[in-house]
Amino acid sequence: MDAGRTDRTMPDGSKPVRAPVFRPGETDGERLSHAVATVTSHVHAIIQELNPSSDEFRAVLSFLTDVGHHSDSRRQEWVLLADVLGVSTLVEDLNSPRPPGATPNTVAGPFYRADVPETANGASISRDGKGEPLFVSGKVRTLDGKAVAGAVVEVWHANAQGIYENQDPDGQPEFNLRGRLTTDGEGAFRFTSVKPKGYALPDDGPVGQLMKRIGLSARRPAHLHFRVSAYGCETLTTHVFDRADPTARDAIIGQRPELMVDFVPSRLEDGRTAHSLDLTFVLCRSTQQPSNSNGRK
Ligand code: BEZ
Ligand code: FE
Repeated sequence: MDAGRTDRTMPDGSKPVRAPVFRPGETDGERLSHAVATVTSHVHAIIQELNPSSDEFRAVLSFLTDVGHHSDSRRQEWVLLADVLGVSTLVEDLNSPRPPGATPNTVAGPFYRADVPETANGASISRDGKGEPLFVSGKVRTLDGKAVAGAVVEVWHANAQGIYENQDPDGQPEFNLRGRLTTDGEGAFRFTSVKPKGYALPDDGPVGQLMKRIGLSARRPAHLHFRVSAYGCETLTTHVFDRADPTARDAIIGQRPELMVDFVPSRLEDGRTAHSLDLTFVLCRSTQQPSNSNGRK
């Protein structure tokens, strides 16, 4: 079953997960045949274990058909299904493993934008000022403890209602709650924003109906997304989650103990509540020549 996967060496030399690569001499068609054979044998094993009736089997086919009917260029129910089954997170873990001590990698999700203008260190990324002020300071360092100067830190998050700027073009200014900062000589960055709220994934389609039937919530706890890139280091895509958010379970199973952070409350002179967040991102040095993300040549 393991043919076609090989050990992937971590930046620190350890081998915590196995990543797919072509077997020597394997062609695209051979890898596809191998994948189809593997999927088929696992599906057969599932059928034997669950022993569905014909009606149940037809219900599964009808669900999958519905998922397809709810997918187009604006809405991707298949991606949502992969997300809520934890498959997107697993693929990310396998393709971007991180050794202990390094900040875990997570999915970027659908709301990332690459075209955000440069933000000066210390500036605000809230372009409408709506919400409780949030002061974020952070450091970027490598696993061996060296500060990373000149790292690009991209940040994006939902507003105080749990809505991203690109979901809400009529309600929020363009690039609201998005920034692109560069770390200073000490590897530090800071910006001001507003405290984000958690949100629910779209639950009005077949995936949402499935989740309701089995008693799972589509909610994601409040979080901020980051992407940190630096010369000589593996790019880190991650989130940090509000430890105090009451959402018991992240709908996409993305939380990691290392990514839980504390928003520290304070009172401003004008009486408003503010919050601060102090973050450290730990990058791995890249030891391999650039290749595509799953290690294929
Ligand atoms: C997000 O946090 O933006 C997200 C990630 C995966 C699926 C849906 C949303
Ligand atoms: Fe998000």
